[in-house]
Amino acid sequence: MTNPALSNDPGDAIPSARGANRPQPAIALLETRHLSRSVGQRLLVNDVSVQVSAGEIFAVVGPSGAGKSSFLRLLNRLDEPTAGTVLLQNVDYRSIAPQELRRRVGMVMQTAFLFPGTISANIAFGPRQRGEVMAPTQIATLLERVGLSGFADRDIGNLSGGEAQRVALARTLANAPEVLLLDEPTSALDEASVRGVEELVLGIVRERRMACVIVTHNREQAVRLADRTMIMEAGRLVAIGPTREVLHAD
Ligand SMILES: Nc1ncnc2c1ncn2[C@@H]1O[C@H](COP(=O)(O)OP(=O)(O)OP(=O)(O)O)[C@@H](O)[C@H]1O
Ligand SMILES: [Mg+2]
Repeated sequence: MTNPALSNDPGDAIPSARGANRPQPAIALLETRHLSRSVGQRLLVNDVSVQVSAGEIFAVVGPSGAGKSSFLRLLNRLDEPTAGTVLLQNVDYRSIAPQELRRRVGMVMQTAFLFPGTISANIAFGPRQRGEVMAPTQIATLLERVGLSGFADRDIGNLSGGEAQRVALARTLANAPEVLLLDEPTSALDEASVRGVEELVLGIVRERRMACVIVTHNREQAVRLADRTMIMEAGRLVAIGPTREVLHAD
């Protein structure tokens, strides 16, 4: 018996032939569907549905307490949604093993939480947890990319804030994530380091075609980095669109 829902268009039987001459829509690498989290009576994140594509930087801005960090922490399941869900390449993330999810969705916070020891040990940590050994040349290449050539054997104790954030970024990149989550990654840095880290994020997101979600209280930073921006207030999405339009920046 044929399924009438599928048989109306004979082209459906041969999707590759049917789709061959059509422009492919941008694929949402990351999608939230009615994503919500409540704690007690409070809705920290309230019904947020957005899509972020490969190579795109998506900013989340809004007043303090709006739920920006709460939203971000739902995206790699650091916190559990109380309603709605997240799709990673169209797959509900609740069906992905947590360890694999954390590898595929990397996160860098406001201040780098590095382990005592050398920079190379910090960078090799993620792969090592999965039983993979990073070759010194791989570590060197990654360090070079984040502007820290020759830092492999240095101790993390001697790093400036900007350097530590670059190590945190390199450590996340060592896992080859598809999605990069950044929570106020430059708010603890001086102005010169801010611009350096911004340029790094821009370059790396484009090169690796990651979907990047950056929480920032700094609207100028959103304008410099983000293709699109959403504004959150009291847990809700109140505006979304191209960054300059949403933030009324000229
Ligand atoms: N685990 C929790 N339990 C209860 N309330 C929480 C919890 N975590 C955060 N909140 C509250 O949820 C609201 C949103 O917090 P969140 O940290 O997501 O805001 P934010 O937009 O990131 O703010 P900021 O710009 O200050 O970082 C705040 O009122 C906060 O006090
Ligand atoms: Mg926050």
